[in-house]
Amino acid sequence: MRIVLCGGAGYIGGHAAVVLAQRGHEVAIVDNLSNSSARAVERLGEVAGMPFEFHHLDIRDAAAMDRMFALRPVDAVMHFAALKAVGESCEKPLDYFDNNIGGSIALLQAMRRAGVRRLVFSSSATVYGDPERVPVTEDARLQVSNPYGRTKLVVEELIGDLCRAQADFRAANLRYFNPVGAHESGLIGEAPGGIPNNLMPYICQVAVGRRPELSVFGGDWPTVDGTGVRDYIHVMDLARAHADALDYLVREDRNLTVNLGTGRGVSVLELVQAFAEASGREIPYRIVGRRDGDVAEVFADPSLAQRLLGWRAELDVRAMCRDAWRWQSANPDDYAD
Ligand code: NAD
Ligand code: UFG
Repeated sequence: MRIVLCGGAGYIGGHAAVVLAQRGHEVAIVDNLSNSSARAVERLGEVAGMPFEFHHLDIRDAAAMDRMFALRPVDAVMHFAALKAVGESCEKPLDYFDNNIGGSIALLQAMRRAGVRRLVFSSSATVYGDPERVPVTEDARLQVSNPYGRTKLVVEELIGDLCRAQADFRAANLRYFNPVGAHESGLIGEAPGGIPNNLMPYICQVAVGRRPELSVFGGDWPTVDGTGVRDYIHVMDLARAHADALDYLVREDRNLTVNLGTGRGVSVLELVQAFAEASGREIPYRIVGRRDGDVAEVFADPSLAQRLLGWRAELDVRAMCRDAWRWQSANPDDYAD
């Protein structure tokens, strides 16, 4: 199939591009490079063994999107393109509404004009907010507590309405839990600009000497050791799920909303310990106050994805830490030379 990956130069889209190319699909990457780089696109080509077709454009640019879709018939779009920093979304909600919701509407319109009727959308466990119980199933109550989360929920709802209105439109909402790790080559990985918001890239930067210590946000949560518990999932397992979800849309001709996680909760201190073992580096940390908007414990019930897609996460926390460290130690400044 010819598949367009919007936001495909980024962390998760890039890993998905590699997996899709390995499965024999023709991949075209569309990205405005607002949170990625031409160097990352080059590296993706190195990993895949040949350069990717790359279109440097914004999904909100209708004329450019029409030209891109007109090149050759497209079988499916995977939509990774979004801004994703929760804190920033609280400061600049309109930027998030414009890029994430406006961008998605523009993309759906361009797909409609081009007659493309399959979509795989990057949603998030953030749509569950502070879940009433764990593990979280897909029918849990949806609630959001910040503008970023709202954009994910709204776009899921827009896609749902479109599926109801357009009989032949098929979509998969993939609710990612906490993606971490990197391709085993060490050539590509997560490259957060500035100070990392998320735990694993922060640990990586401490390990490589870019930051003195990790601040652990809260040691008094009602969890196994008082620190926050999440469902970390290896980005290569996640990437594989995208190929499987697309196969499902084609094979079953039905829409899909699934959790993508391992089903296992891991605390901050457990991840720090696993990373220290994998890297052989000490990770100095200090327990500080809780971060606004955080929750104690979130992990997935991933059984629906297993039932419908035949997919399950295969890589454990050791592999996540090993691969994150291989990437960071070989590229201490991410994609910068
Ligand atoms: P990322 O920032 O690395 O990748 C997103 C890519 O989209 C970037 O390369 C960016 O340049 C591009 N982009 C953004 N707006 C665009 C636009 N208007 N036009 C064209 N390109 C645009 O982020 P990621 O971690 O790879 O996340 C991918 C998707 O998964 C996002 O939608 C994110 O919200 C979602 N998600 C991520 C996580 C996570 O923890 N990383 C968790 C749940 C969901
Ligand atoms: N944490 C720290 N120190 C840090 C960073 C994080 O202790 O420097 C802790 C957090 O308090 C939390 C855990 O590490 O307990 C994981 O935090 P992340 O920021 O890595 O991940 P979150 O689960 O908080 O957030 C992620 C995505 C969001 C998404 C959310 C809900 O980054 O975009 O999952 O699915 F909204």
